[in-house]
Amino acid sequence: MTGSNGSTAVSDQPALPKPEGLEGVVAASTALSHVFGEEGKLVYRGYDIHELAGNASFEEVAYLLWNGRLPTQDELKDLLLTLGEERSLPGHVIDVIRALPGDAHPMDALRTGASALGAGGGDQFDDEPDLDEAIALTAMFPGILAAFFRLRQGLEPVAPKPEHNTAQSYLHQLFGREPEDRHWRPLEVYLTLLADHGMNASTFTARVIASTGSDLCSSITGAVGALKGPLHGGAPSKVLDMLEAIGSAENVDSWLTDALDRGERLMGFGHRVYKAEDPRAEILRGMAAEASTPEFFELSRRTEERALEMLHERKPGRRLYTNVEFYSAAVLSAVGLPGDMFTPTFAVSRVTGWTAHVLEQVANNRLIRPQSEFVGPTDRKFVAIEAR
Ligand code: COA
Repeated sequence: MTGSNGSTAVSDQPALPKPEGLEGVVAASTALSHVFGEEGKLVYRGYDIHELAGNASFEEVAYLLWNGRLPTQDELKDLLLTLGEERSLPGHVIDVIRALPGDAHPMDALRTGASALGAGGGDQFDDEPDLDEAIALTAMFPGILAAFFRLRQGLEPVAPKPEHNTAQSYLHQLFGREPEDRHWRPLEVYLTLLADHGMNASTFTARVIASTGSDLCSSITGAVGALKGPLHGGAPSKVLDMLEAIGSAENVDSWLTDALDRGERLMGFGHRVYKAEDPRAEILRGMAAEASTPEFFELSRRTEERALEMLHERKPGRRLYTNVEFYSAAVLSAVGLPGDMFTPTFAVSRVTGWTAHVLEQVANNRLIRPQSEFVGPTDRKFVAIEAR
């Protein structure tokens, strides 16, 4: 094959299938969770998400993901105790967060904090990834975010209370007051819904890094970076931006039409795997109806209805439905979080899934190292800089 520059592209490679974005490629075996895209069903360790949401605590779900079964009462008590003991951040991590510019994105602060946790300050994260490290990281994620959230407002970090569960502790460390039931309970359900989701981009990132024999903090730091992107976890704050820009029900049609005419994607719709409604969206819609103001819920509902109609008209056959991010925006703002804390809050939950995947990967490891189809030239000759 001769390229436009006159050189020859490689031709001795076997013809490999080349799905764009690895769509449909099986990259690992996992017993953790599965997305049944056609049916719109999500299963954690054999339990349909509807079984767990609102029934299991976040910590029970974390235990389930890490250990493969639900905990007994004593096991849950032990886990809550350990999480409570592990929440305080090492001093050097606070120092690193303190040094960040106040206008940094909280996801950048989380990525930096996760990386700093793996950089000395004791040998807590030095070994091969294990369950103790997974629990410690899960315990510290809310504190990293809360410390940054407060420092950027000129406030000092708040010491965690060991008796709090994860949702309570996160809100307490963020706002420095005892969390109300009407805030931490919906947050807890949100955390159970987002804990794992098959071989998504950030989970794949974590497993690739773990497969090289690297440490847990490196895997999780990489995963945070992958989650930040708007095509993955970065959408919910953009949903809030969209709803705020629409402002009221009478603007919905014109705003959505203009956005689609400009070729923009509507945040909170579509999914690589789901070809039916995301089951988490259905649960969050119900929660948003209770937790958010009637006006905001009405605006969300109207926007969702018209967006689905327009997407189905404009992209017939694409099967675009509401995804988890759309109603996350309503639920998380009702809990009191500002838009830029939405994706980091997703990470407070997903760190359980990421760490469980890393443990699964290292238990039966093989370096993840795929092939690429080489499409460049192979026979160029070096020309000295003076002659170019
Ligand atoms: N708004 C408008 N059009 C959309 C869309 C959206 N939210 N999602 C997908 N489409 C369109 C694409 O433009 C494409 O149209 P085309 O074939 O005419 O070019 C078609 O639907 C298929 O999209 P594709 O890019 O193949 O889907 P994907 O599997 O790569 O993307 C997402 C999945 C999630 C990245 C995509 O749906 C998206 O960008 N959604 C908005 C962001 C979002 O909500 N992210 C959170 C995900 S949980």
